[in-house]
Amino acid sequence: MKQIIRTALIISIGLMGTQCSTAQQTKPAQTQGTAVNEQQMKQFVDDLLSKMTLEEKIGQLNLVAVGFDVTGPVVSENVDENIRNGNVGGVFNTFTPVAARKLQELAINNTRLKIPLLFGYDVIHGHRTIFPMPLGLAASWDMEAVERSARIAADEASADGLNWVFSPMVDISRDPRWGRIAEGAGEDPYLGSKIAAAMVRGYQGNDLTKNNTVMATVKHFALYGAPEAGRDYHTVDMSMNRMFNEYLAPYKAAIDAGAGSVMTAFNEVNGVPATANRWLLTELLRDQWGFDGFVVTDYTAINELVPHGLGTEAEVGALALKAGADMDMVGEVYLKNVAQLVREGKLTEEDVTKSARRILEAKYKLGLFQDPYRYTDEARAKATIMKPEYITAAREIARESMVLLKNENNALPLNKTASIALVGPLARNQRDMIGNWSGAGDWKQAVSVEQGIRNVAGSGVKINYAKGANIADDPQMIQRLNAHGGELEIDTRSSEEMIAEAVKVAQASDVVVAVVGESQGMSGEAASRADISLPGRQQELLRALKATGKPLVLVLMNGRPLALQWEAENADAILETWFAGTQAGNAIADVLFGDYNPSGKLPVTFPQVVGQVPIYYAQKNTGRPYGGEMLDKYKSRYMDVSNEPLYPFGYGLSYTTFNYAAPQLSQTSITPQQELEVRVDVTNTGQRDGEEVVQLYIQDLVGSITRPVRELKGFQKIALKKGETKTVTFRITADDLKFYNNDLEYVYEPGEFKVYVGPNSRDVQELTFTLSGQ
Ligand code: BGC
Repeated sequence: MKQIIRTALIISIGLMGTQCSTAQQTKPAQTQGTAVNEQQMKQFVDDLLSKMTLEEKIGQLNLVAVGFDVTGPVVSENVDENIRNGNVGGVFNTFTPVAARKLQELAINNTRLKIPLLFGYDVIHGHRTIFPMPLGLAASWDMEAVERSARIAADEASADGLNWVFSPMVDISRDPRWGRIAEGAGEDPYLGSKIAAAMVRGYQGNDLTKNNTVMATVKHFALYGAPEAGRDYHTVDMSMNRMFNEYLAPYKAAIDAGAGSVMTAFNEVNGVPATANRWLLTELLRDQWGFDGFVVTDYTAINELVPHGLGTEAEVGALALKAGADMDMVGEVYLKNVAQLVREGKLTEEDVTKSARRILEAKYKLGLFQDPYRYTDEARAKATIMKPEYITAAREIARESMVLLKNENNALPLNKTASIALVGPLARNQRDMIGNWSGAGDWKQAVSVEQGIRNVAGSGVKINYAKGANIADDPQMIQRLNAHGGELEIDTRSSEEMIAEAVKVAQASDVVVAVVGESQGMSGEAASRADISLPGRQQELLRALKATGKPLVLVLMNGRPLALQWEAENADAILETWFAGTQAGNAIADVLFGDYNPSGKLPVTFPQVVGQVPIYYAQKNTGRPYGGEMLDKYKSRYMDVSNEPLYPFGYGLSYTTFNYAAPQLSQTSITPQQELEVRVDVTNTGQRDGEEVVQLYIQDLVGSITRPVRELKGFQKIALKKGETKTVTFRITADDLKFYNNDLEYVYEPGEFKVYVGPNSRDVQELTFTLSGQ
C-alpha cells in the first residue's frame, strides 16, 4: 500500500511540475473565478488527452454517488472497482477529509494516468453551519450576506473533502405548489440574478485553486421552476418571449460570474428534454453565452430520456452527449453505451474528447493535478467547521432573512419579562429548523425556538409550553416524511385534548407565540403540495387560541408561500422565518424581543388562496384589466376572490416606520447615452433604528411586445437611525430598459417609461420619463 502511495505522489508531483514550471514563465491570465493560465491548461490537458484511451475518456464522464453509513463511507464493490478501472470522473455524497482521501487514493493509486476525482455535494444553504433555506436567504435582499453565507459554506465544504457544490439553484418560480421553490431565490429575474452572482462569488472566490474555494454549479438549466400545476418533474412549456425575459437571466448571471459547471434540468424545454437539448446546452449556453465549463446532468436524467420518449438507452446516450451534456450523474448510460456507439459510428471519439476535456479542465482549474489531496486536511477541517465566527454569522444572516408580515397593537417586540404561551408543533423542534437540502448539517446542533427564547430573554421570561397540534395528522404523510429524513413524533393524544391544553396555557399567559407551519420535508424535491394552507389541524389550534382574546403572535416556518387568509386577518403579528438554519431559534428570539429589528422583504408573492397561483407582481396588463368594480363582469378577474395577493413581492415590515418623500428625477428625458438619476429621501420616522430595502421598478409603457406592469430594476438596503434621513440614488441607463423582442434581440425601445419607487412592489410612487431614439 505504502509503495503505491509513493508512486502516486511522485506522479502527482510530476504533474505539478508541469503546471508550475510553465506558470513561472508566463504570468497566469486571470479568468473569472480561476487563476489559471488558459494556454498552459490547454497544453496540459491536450497532452493528457493524447495519452488517454477512449475508455479512459468515457470514465471521466461518469459521476457516481457514494453514500455513508454510520461507520463512514460505503464504497460498494462496483464503485470501488469502477474507480480502480478508471471508470469514474467524479464522486458525490462523500465528504470528510478521511472519506474523500480514501476514494481519491483509489483513483490515484490504481489508475494508469492517476487522474484525480472531483468531489461534489449538494451544499445548498451551508455545509455544516446551516444558513436559512435559499428562499429565506433571498428575503434578506442583502447581497453581502448572501455571498458571505456561500463563502462560509465553501470554506467548510472544501475543508471537508469537497471541491464542487451543486449550487446555486437559480430556477425562477412563481408557483408555491412546487416544493423546490424553497431552494431558489423566488419569482424575480433581477433579484434572482443578483443572488446567483453573489453565490458564485462566494463559492469560487477569485481563485479556484485555493484550498478554501469550491466550484459552483448553476442549476437546473433550464426552466425547472415552471412545471405545469406546480407538480415536480412535470412538463414545462413556455414561449421564447417569457423564457428570455423572465426565466433565463439568473442562469446567465451565474455564468457571467464564472460558475464552473452547469447542471441540466429534468424537464423539457420547447419539447426537447433539457438533458438532450442541443439548442439549450450548446447553442445558447456555449455559443451565445460563452460558457466554457462543463455540463453535468441531473440525477439519472439521461436514463429518464427513455420515458420522456426519445428512444432507447443507447440512443438517448448519443443524443445527450451530442447535445452537450458532458457528465452523466449516476445513470451510467455513457459508461455502458458510448464506446459501442463510437464503434458503430453513431458518435465520434471527438464527441467524447470534447466532454472529457471540459471535465479535465475543471480538475485543472481546481488545482487537483497539482495536489489531489488539497481538500483533505483533517486539521483544517477541525479548525474550520462550525467555528464560532461561522455560528455568529449564521445567527446574523438568519435574522436578516425574517419577514415581519403583520404587527398590530405593538404585539411585537415581546417584553423580556412576559409570560409566554409557547405553542405549536415547531416550538421545540430542531430537525425542521435546518430545512431540506441541509446535507451535512446536524440538526441536533440547531437551536429550537424555545431554547432561543431562553437564551435571549433569560430568566425574566416565563414559558408555558403546549404542543397544541401535530404538524400533520395524515399517517401516510407522516410515513412519507419520516422515510426521507423526517423525525416527526406524532402525539397520540386527540386533537381536542392537545388544543384544550394549549388554550389553558394561553389563558395563563400574557401573550401567545404559536410556532406553526410545515415540516421541512413538505418542501424541496418531490414535495409539491396542491393545498398550500397550514397542514393538519394547526389552523383549528389557532382559532381556539384566538378565542382566548390573548395577543396572538405567529412564528411561521415553511418552505414556500402559504395561503394564510384567516391567519393574516386574525393574528396580531406574523413573523415569517422560513427554515432559518443552525441558529434559527436564537435568530427568531432576537427578532421577537426586538434585539434585532426585522428587515426582510418577500422575494415571492403570497397568494390569498391557491387558486390564484401562479401569481406574481410583474404580470402583463391584459386587454381587460380589472379595476375593482364589483359588477364589472367582463374583466380579468375571479368571481370569488380579488386579484390581489395576500402579501405582495418586496413586502415586509419593521418595528420602526419609514417615510418616503416624493422621488425626483434628474431629467424627464434621456438619450440612450445618458444616465437618469432617481433620488428619494427616506426617513426613519419611528422609535427605533432600522433597515429598509428601497425598491425601484420600471414599466415600459409601449413596446413591440407587451411588457409587464412593472419590473424590479434596482434596490438598496439601507440602515437608518431613529429620525435619520438618507437620500437613495438609483441610476438608470438604456441598458436597464432592454428586453428580448420577438426576434430575441436584446434591445431598448424609445418611448415613455414609468419609474416606481417604494418599500414593496405595491406601495409605490410613480414618475414618468422618456427615452429618445438617439
Ligand atoms: C436534484 C439536484 C441535485 C442532485 C444530486 C437531484 O435529484 O434535482 O438538485 O443536485 O439530485 O443530489
